[in-house]
Amino acid sequence: MIIALSRFTIANDMTDEVRAAFRRRPHLVDEVSGFLGMEVMSPVGTPAEIWLVTRWRDEQSYRSWHHGHAYHESHTGIPKGLKLVPGSTEVRLFEVFAD
Ligand code: HEM
Repeated sequence: MIIALSRFTIANDMTDEVRAAFRRRPHLVDEVSGFLGMEVMSPVGTPAEIWLVTRWRDEQSYRSWHHGHAYHESHTGIPKGLKLVPGSTEVRLFEVFAD
């Protein structure tokens, strides 16, 4: 299994809107081959920091989705006017080798 751990920090007063957008996310990714599940979370006490965990069968499944149109379609609901803290965006891939 591969886990993509991505994070960004909201710079303006839009945390509630971003949370709402994730709660009503389009669920397009749910049908994508190799997608196993996801969680969206914030560190306790730091709600403007968003961490996204997506779980994939293998790296190719993640990369195909990320480079394809489904990724872009999944992001059309990003709240207008959202500003991120520069440099706060990061995606890292993790190989799960034991559980
Ligand atoms: C850094 C900039 C990013 C922002 C501001 C952002 C924001 C959002 C928001 C607000 C949603 C909710 C759906 C919507 O409103 O369109 C969403 C959905 C999602 N995002 Fe991102 N995202 C970012 C980067 C990423 C990255 C790098 C990944 C992958 C590792 C990712 C994976 C997802 C997934 C899987 C969904 C759910 C899609 C679905 O339900 O079909 N996002 N994102």
